[in-house]
Amino acid sequence: MSAVVITGTQWGDEGKGKIVDYLAARADVVVRFQGGSNAGHTVTVNGEEYKLRLLPSGILYPKTKCVIGNGVVLDPAVVLEEMDAMSSRGIDVSSIKISNRAHVVMPYHKLIDELNENLRAENKIGTTKRGIGPCYIDKDDRIGIRVCDLIDREEFASKLKTILPMKNLILEKVYNHAPLDFDAIVDEYSGYAQRLEPYVCDTISLLNDQLDCGKKILFEGAQATMLDIDYGTYPYVTASHPISGGVGVGAGVAPKKIDCVVGVVKAYCTRVGEGPFPTEQLNAIGDKLRECGHEFGTVTGRPRRTGWLDACVVRYAGQLSGIDYMAVTRLDILDSFDEIKMCVGYKLDGRLLNEIPASLKILARVEPVYETFEGWREPISDIRSYDELPSKAKKYLERMSEVTGIGLGIVSVGPNRDQTIVLKEII
Ligand code: IMP
Repeated sequence: MSAVVITGTQWGDEGKGKIVDYLAARADVVVRFQGGSNAGHTVTVNGEEYKLRLLPSGILYPKTKCVIGNGVVLDPAVVLEEMDAMSSRGIDVSSIKISNRAHVVMPYHKLIDELNENLRAENKIGTTKRGIGPCYIDKDDRIGIRVCDLIDREEFASKLKTILPMKNLILEKVYNHAPLDFDAIVDEYSGYAQRLEPYVCDTISLLNDQLDCGKKILFEGAQATMLDIDYGTYPYVTASHPISGGVGVGAGVAPKKIDCVVGVVKAYCTRVGEGPFPTEQLNAIGDKLRECGHEFGTVTGRPRRTGWLDACVVRYAGQLSGIDYMAVTRLDILDSFDEIKMCVGYKLDGRLLNEIPASLKILARVEPVYETFEGWREPISDIRSYDELPSKAKKYLERMSEVTGIGLGIVSVGPNRDQTIVLKEII
């Protein structure tokens, strides 16, 4: 298949980076289409960890083109820092392409993200404070600065001349914060522009041309379905569209060109930041999941909230993104559990629900309906074929597929590339 979307089915941190890196071995291009440096994708190759925030997870293959699409909000300092870090580890970054239409994260976006969170006090969203929401707000407000503006020194200065006084007024009058300095921003950002310019192009024509000549493209979602601005647990969401539909607007590739959608499902569930999480385990089970899974944020280092797999959420992700196959990750983290639970339905006032409630008040009241599975209690990280998995692990996976209505494509039993069991050749 030549156009494959990888999307997170839960609240992010499902292990998309590992799956994209694994599939990227056979891809010509890997594309980020939404989000920004709020993402934290970890890829492990030969025991060495690479933490990626803006660079697509195909970066570790010398022949794979990596594209940052128009739907991404680009923090120039972060992407350059990441490129430098990769280069210093011998990774070639020369094939990176950055959309001239992507919006630029500015210093006031990061500042306002942080100040807003402080103002919200106990109602905070728990953002990554990377300026993601404020940058998308400016895009919609038509006062954003795009990469094509950034690399045009005059255009950049002229846009900033209009925008910065507006931002400074807000900083001073609303937040009681000192204004930002025009010249300092122009100086800092023209340095970035100079370095980024060789990588900037029209990624829309590039991607469509690649597909037209039969190249294989992976679209790498960041964050996940339950953090989608429309479909997630609003307002505890990110400001973009991580579902497969995000590819159309975030990469300029039409929906009918997508051949396959893979939903990445962590074998249990985690969430960072605030907001409802019906299967959360605020107890010893949750602590054990966090400990065994080393569940701490890649970007923020925050301990992640942990709980049992919520198959209702995965089924919902399947509907929204048209998921063809699941890539189940981190199954090995459950190796030492005597008992494993899976939420297969929600009950509200004794009645089974058929949908995910939009109202957070109602979602907070639902009672997860659990099925209990016996743990397999043996290490599975060295297993390389589905048949060799313990029958109790297969029972868990097969029930997951049954409840969600999505076929099993990949099962990951460890962070390394070879710790991957393939049931369906995807690309
Ligand atoms: P923002 O994307 O920084 O605006 O944060 C909004 C919400 O999305 C917060 O709850 C974040 O913790 C969450 N979030 C953003 N990016 C990620 C991610 O890559 N993984 C998990 N959660 C994320």
